[in-house]
Amino acid sequence: MLSYRHAFHAGNFADVLKHIILIQLFEYLSKKDQPICCIDTHAGAGDYVLDSAYALKNSEFASGIGRLWSRQDLPDAVASYVELIKRANNNGKMTHYLGSPLIIQQLLRKQDRLCLYELHSTEVDLLATAIGRDKRVKIFHADGLKNSLGLLPPQERRGLILIDPSYELKTDYVDVANTLCAMHKRFATGTYALWYPVVDRRRNQALERALQTSGIKNIQLFELGIAADSDEYGMTASGLIIINPPWTLTTQMQTVLPWLVEVLGNNGAGSYRIQTLVAE
Ligand SMILES: C[S@@+](CC[C@H](N)C(=O)[O-])C[C@H]1O[C@@H](n2cnc3c(N)ncnc32)[C@H](O)[C@@H]1O
Repeated sequence: MLSYRHAFHAGNFADVLKHIILIQLFEYLSKKDQPICCIDTHAGAGDYVLDSAYALKNSEFASGIGRLWSRQDLPDAVASYVELIKRANNNGKMTHYLGSPLIIQQLLRKQDRLCLYELHSTEVDLLATAIGRDKRVKIFHADGLKNSLGLLPPQERRGLILIDPSYELKTDYVDVANTLCAMHKRFATGTYALWYPVVDRRRNQALERALQTSGIKNIQLFELGIAADSDEYGMTASGLIIINPPWTLTTQMQTVLPWLVEVLGNNGAGSYRIQTLVAE
């Protein structure tokens, strides 16, 4: 039985990078009028109350979105993200954090659609409430890694697929690589964003190698570390591996990531990586 609840972590440094990039991916795709199909394979609850017991247990949001909330010097991509979260907090106080499904829902146009997968029964109920009535959004109480493959290729032929597992199972690292390969075989022109934590660097190296030898082209990695790699302190860094990224993303992240390192890094111990895993 999986026990992960994203409510403990919502708005932390990992969410900050993930959601900044997610918004940039969607905004780039939506420059054209043609409809977009978005798939979120691990949706979570969608809306997180930051003064709940879950969020306050470790107050991870305080050293994530909390450090950005009142700053006036946000780089453009960070400003778009903070503005979107602030719109859900219309009294100006930081009390709600939006997860990926609600972030995408805010960005959807009338011609777009969003398919959400969530396995945990409590989370899927919360997600349904958070999404509300929206014809553009479909929620599946099902395994997103296995079942989302059936949606590919989408009829729109333009797609953004977020894969954001909790990595509770050690097999997740292998499963995500296999799933990405299977998805890419069906829909090679889609934009894919795979989130990963850095807890044991060897697992990340194996995942990167698996993708580098998969035959998939045009893979870019963006990572933010708040502390040096360690076997003792849990997640010290996290990142996104993007297949078919917008050509503008690397340039944006060359500004955003060093800025985030300064603002979110633990006492000067932050770091970042921007790496082409496979060229176009
Ligand atoms: C990291 S959280 C998702 C956070 C969310 N994507 C966001 O950015 O706001 C991972 C979620 O995936 C769910 N989950 C775990 N395994 C799953 C699977 N195979 N299919 C669908 N959901 C799964 C967990 O219950 C959890 O809510």
